[in-house]
Amino acid sequence: DAADLEKGMYPYYMLKEIDEQPAVLRRIVQQYQNSAGELEIPNELKQAVEAADRIHIVACGTSYHAGWLGKHFLEKMAGIPTEVHIASEFSYNPPLIKGNPLFVFISQSGETADSRQVLVKVKEWGYPTLTITNVQGSTLSREANHTLLLHAGPEIAVASTKAYTAQISVLAILAATLSEEKDFALIHELGIVANAMDSIIAEKEQIAELAEAYLTDKRSAFYIGRGLDYYVSMEAALKLKEISYVQTEGFAAGELKHGTIALIEEGTPVIALITQAENASHTRGNIEEVRSRGAHTCVCVMEGLQQESDQLVLPAVHPMLTPLLAVVPTQLLAYYATLQRGFDVDKPRNLAKSVTVE
Ligand code: G6P
Repeated sequence: DAADLEKGMYPYYMLKEIDEQPAVLRRIVQQYQNSAGELEIPNELKQAVEAADRIHIVACGTSYHAGWLGKHFLEKMAGIPTEVHIASEFSYNPPLIKGNPLFVFISQSGETADSRQVLVKVKEWGYPTLTITNVQGSTLSREANHTLLLHAGPEIAVASTKAYTAQISVLAILAATLSEEKDFALIHELGIVANAMDSIIAEKEQIAELAEAYLTDKRSAFYIGRGLDYYVSMEAALKLKEISYVQTEGFAAGELKHGTIALIEEGTPVIALITQAENASHTRGNIEEVRSRGAHTCVCVMEGLQQESDQLVLPAVHPMLTPLLAVVPTQLLAYYATLQRGFDVDKPRNLAKSVTVE
């Protein structure tokens, strides 16, 4: 069918979609640029966000993980306090609302039932809503007051890859267009990220070898990191577990010692992400803690922070945008580990691309 034709030379959609990420990033920058070459969002949306004194992000799965980066950008760049909610938990623990909130729904498909149910409730309450989605005309888009599109092209593989980096990019653009500071040249910085993604993707064989060395014959694994690297660790762990069935946890590097470190055995893979100068030495300390208890540690580090023994060095990008880059090798690790373990990368058991039941 048409979709198979589109897959072309790729053995799996997931690999095609990982490879597309630099192009998607460039397309997003183009789509959100005005004729003066500046990033821009629709004026009515800008007014709605500026009128908000708090933002509530609602999402599921990978989109929920992107939401944490949205919180980071909206607070750091735009100065708006932001909370992130798992959609299916929202009704049990609704936020305490004072003032003028804005609700932001992040959903690749725009059809996820858990998120839709929250949108219905929020509309009943009468608050303004924005949906960030890959699918124009999807339910969450039609029912919200505002929509920002991801422009990622159809995502077919069940494991989300290019939608995640597109979500992060659009969230960064949203936050940057609200920022007073004009010295953060986001267009330029995203261009650097796209080029850096290209160079990681060009050397994917190296990551296939790491997957073989660290993950292929394992039952469990950990990703650890601090700050932005923790958020990426959560997504990296989801990617690995959902398609390879290696039981994986993404952990805040400093929290591991408060209990979960008990699970570290001889040979347990622990993949550490280090992209932030401010926490690099602390994460290094945590790597030592697990290594001394037998863990097989793999360090994925940003250029400038590396040590000689590190396994994977990522090209340097702006510190706020490292998640866009750091996630790519973790997607490839999941992809290759799954291939090597003999499972269908695009169609993992028990999962659906879009879940339309609560
Ligand atoms: C399903 C998919 C996940 C996805 C989640 C949210 O569970 O398997 O990959 O992250 O739904 O989907 P959405 O379309 O709302 O982003």
